[in-house]
Amino acid sequence: MRILKRVSSLDRHLDIIREEGRTIGFVPTMGALHKGHVSLIKKSTEENDITVCSIYVNPTQFNDKDDLEKYPRNLEKDASLLRKFGCDYIFAPSSSQIYPKGLDTKVDLDISHLTSEMEGPNRPGHFEGVVQVVKRLLDIVNPNNLYMGQKDFQQFTIINYMLKALDIPTRLRVCPIIREEDGLAMSSRNVRLSSALRPHCNLIYKSLKYAKEKLEELNINVIEDRALSSLKIQNFRPEYFDIVDGHTLKPVEKMSDAEYIVACTAVWAGDVRLIDNMILRGEKYIR
Ligand code: PAJ
Repeated sequence: MRILKRVSSLDRHLDIIREEGRTIGFVPTMGALHKGHVSLIKKSTEENDITVCSIYVNPTQFNDKDDLEKYPRNLEKDASLLRKFGCDYIFAPSSSQIYPKGLDTKVDLDISHLTSEMEGPNRPGHFEGVVQVVKRLLDIVNPNNLYMGQKDFQQFTIINYMLKALDIPTRLRVCPIIREEDGLAMSSRNVRLSSALRPHCNLIYKSLKYAKEKLEELNINVIEDRALSSLKIQNFRPEYFDIVDGHTLKPVEKMSDAEYIVACTAVWAGDVRLIDNMILRGEKYIR
């Protein structure tokens, strides 16, 4: 496994691989890797000749300076994990490589129809930043397959839209959410949860399971209200619990209105923001 920090050196290596007709799988990350990331790496190594993992904490997608500063960083630990799971290249660039002076990396794409709900209003500019960095990384790596997690439902939906809208031939592969034993979705931010709050964090998974159980039985707005209330315990502050159409990310009013239904939630546990989701119907649309 090689760790490369410059676009030009990655280019040299990948050019040869492409010339030899070998396939490239790409896993973009912000580091602080856990089993969720590892599942993407494993899938990529299974499906491609070469796997590239990028580690870059992208400032343009952070609307909260504090979150950016506190984001955990540990390249050595990440590298040993990636080596163990068969990654071939780590691309760990500095900002001057991703956003060099004079290069316009803004993506001319209207994503407003996919950002009006959920994470969009709560994190203004976030998805524009994600689109910008993923497009830049795709331009650099030019992979056959791109691996992303279902954990960030709105994120992969928007990236999928970008691939289609911009006619990018890379194929998106979405991998299931990897959870801790108690159901908490794995996240790089989990290390920041206090030991007092951590035991209660499984209530997020419970609220999603509740939504799935009640889908056939209760009105959707009743499920949303009850699930949201269940998340209002001491030191927890839910931002939203929304049941949406998985294709359009717009609210679903009635069960019969959509074939692909997903519940998405964001909750502050102390000063850590956690997101999670569950497909309530239409699993076949995602994989
Ligand atoms: P990051 O949060 O590091 O996540 C990298 C990838 O890992 C994303 O596709 C995310 O959905 C996936 N992932 C995270 N936790 C997971 C879990 N518990 N189970 C399965 N997959 C999981 O998402 C980003 O970075 C950035 O926005 C990025 C796409 C790299 C752009 O900067």
